[in-house]
Amino acid sequence: MQYKGIIFDLDGVICSTDEYHYLAWKALADRLGIPFDRERNNLLRGVSRMASLEIILEKSDKAYSDAEKAAFAEEKNTMYRELLGRMSPADLSDDIRDTLNVLREAGLKLAIGSSSKNTRFILERIGLSNFFDAVADGNCITHSKPHPEVFLKAAGMISLAPDQCIVVEDAHAGVEAAVAGGFDCAAIGDAKDDERARYHLSRISDLLSDLQIKD
Ligand code: BG6
Ligand code: MG
Repeated sequence: MQYKGIIFDLDGVICSTDEYHYLAWKALADRLGIPFDRERNNLLRGVSRMASLEIILEKSDKAYSDAEKAAFAEEKNTMYRELLGRMSPADLSDDIRDTLNVLREAGLKLAIGSSSKNTRFILERIGLSNFFDAVADGNCITHSKPHPEVFLKAAGMISLAPDQCIVVEDAHAGVEAAVAGGFDCAAIGDAKDDERARYHLSRISDLLSDLQIKD
């Protein structure tokens, strides 16, 4: 097997927090009278909180000040964290839990590479606080995906070069970031058919057959 490490995106890969992002942004957009739906929500995958807000505000007739934008982002994050607070280890699917354990037993280094500033809180909620060898998140980067910074940080934290790692992503911006950083990518969910990815997963456990890792 050519890889020594796997870098996982978090929202939409390890857990279904992408749905909570959608619900919180949708509540804000509805309050402001801005059209927003699930298709438009896909543009926000992998993108930072403020960049996501700017994409939503593109459909607004009004111009907002920086202070108003900061307040909107805070309002969304408060709603989002309320939803996250209801999560528990039961929100980690058996497919993901089992796959992570097999990958760990196979000796691979496992890391998180997420744009989210809520990464640590989410990992705590789903019982994975101490599972990963490294966590690179929205708090340690200056450029969000599609910039490769978060994946390069994660690879550095596990002392591997990009060509020794594979990135697992559900966002087109994340696939672009992985490729830009020199990583192979396994795409899942919304980005599953992205042609820039080397592997196309229907579920996380497909990694085990694609990478020829035996249980
Ligand atoms: C990414 C999500 O993981 O994190 C994006 O895919 C989100 O949708 C981004 O905007 C930032 O998240 P947070 O939790 O810092 O607002
Ligand atoms: Mg994602």
